[in-house]
Amino acid sequence: LPGAEIIVVSNREPYIHNRARDGEVSLQIPASGLVSALEPVVRACGGTWVAHGSGTADREAVDSHDRVAVPPDDPSYTLRRVWLSDEEQDGYYYGFANEGLWPLCHIAFVRPVFRESDWAMYRAVNEKFADAVAEEARGEDPIILIQDYHFALLPRLLRQRLPRATIITFWHIPWPNAETFGICPHREEIIEGLLGSSIVGFHTQFHCSNFLDAVDRFVESRIVRETSTVYYGGDMTRVRPYPISIAWPPAALRRQKPVPECRAAVRERLGLPSDIRIAVGIERFDYTKGIIDRMQAVDSFLTEHPEWVGRFALVQVAAPTRSKLASYRALQDEALALAEEINSRHGGEGYRPIVLVAEHHEPNEVYELFRAADLCIVSSLHDGMNLVAKEFVAARDDEQGVLVLSAFAGASRELGEAVIVNPYHTHAMGEAILRALDMPADEQRERMILMREQVRARNVYRWAGQMLLDAARLRKRERIARL
Ligand code: G6P
Repeated sequence: LPGAEIIVVSNREPYIHNRARDGEVSLQIPASGLVSALEPVVRACGGTWVAHGSGTADREAVDSHDRVAVPPDDPSYTLRRVWLSDEEQDGYYYGFANEGLWPLCHIAFVRPVFRESDWAMYRAVNEKFADAVAEEARGEDPIILIQDYHFALLPRLLRQRLPRATIITFWHIPWPNAETFGICPHREEIIEGLLGSSIVGFHTQFHCSNFLDAVDRFVESRIVRETSTVYYGGDMTRVRPYPISIAWPPAALRRQKPVPECRAAVRERLGLPSDIRIAVGIERFDYTKGIIDRMQAVDSFLTEHPEWVGRFALVQVAAPTRSKLASYRALQDEALALAEEINSRHGGEGYRPIVLVAEHHEPNEVYELFRAADLCIVSSLHDGMNLVAKEFVAARDDEQGVLVLSAFAGASRELGEAVIVNPYHTHAMGEAILRALDMPADEQRERMILMREQVRARNVYRWAGQMLLDAARLRKRERIARL
């Protein structure tokens, strides 16, 4: 795409500047699958990334146009920050996006809440981002990469401002079936908004089909199933699967020590015996991730196989997230209580089978944990893709370690050599832990080699490359049509 101008839009920014209590400004890389996937791509392509400036020192780190060059150590693209008031964040981010669309699309483990005032704020913030993106665009036909469920209305708003732009919208979370999606009181507007895109992408074909079904059911359009294309008003939108991934090799791996050193360091730091076997779970403290279910599986495992008591621990890192919402706080409380209960049932004399660390970890620490573990458990109740699974595989250049993976994460479509589990089946998940602990090194290696091959070949550059290639083809066609 020589000469094409690239603008990425997401709610979450790739770099957060925060002021600590001692007055020092620190830089944080947020725990976000979207950010960890997209950042290496934008770093490689250059361009502009428009996102909410959420850090307490973000305003100090911008110029008079709210722009800052990043990555801080070796700048290669521009981060344009958009400021949101508390009221805007409450309605648009916490409210409509995270109490409405998030539980709705993950199929209502928590009842979705739709308030008129949240919807009004969601619309207003989508307009605000549309203005910021239009301001950043230098030419009339940039390629705009819109990220996620915070911005369902943005594609159409941008189509109005920049009719010749190539707009690609990627929905990072699942799209539920049409009946479920129909719960949303603003389903028509959301679909019409998304259909302002040239291309709408999801992780899996399944979610593409669900989206087409929703289009079919809720708006007047023509759908060509064979080519997965929607004609709506004067617009044509293609709906395509692009399974997201990670950079290969991941940057955080370059700074890692050999596996035996990681194993020893992590066990020492957590006060665990040097020969204990460990499972890791690492994610945001989110109710879609199946953290409770995973702990219950550990409970079942230790009850059924008491010979493992004292010899196995689950190290669960859960980064507090969206804690303003009652559903997230309730999960944190429930998980802490359950960990205590399980630890008092099976633990003793300094032994805790569940080590719950409710803190944000930077990528280096995450990779060290992956390398220290015997197995990694990803037990999402529902997940668009889940990059933790792919990061664990990428971290294991020793070709050892077992991935226990939920069948309901998009990643299970690509990583079939994992031990696939149903997180709702506590007993079976407990048995999967046993199977992972007993798995011979040769079998671990065979499975790991296949999974590593998959993640290496279908890495995030391919994800982005595929979308940009499709964009390039569209642009050529449009150019020819104008001749
Ligand atoms: C998921 C969403 C992303 C989001 C991330 C972190 O991966 O798809 O859009 O950035 O969670 O959540 P947060 O609300 O902290 O940005």
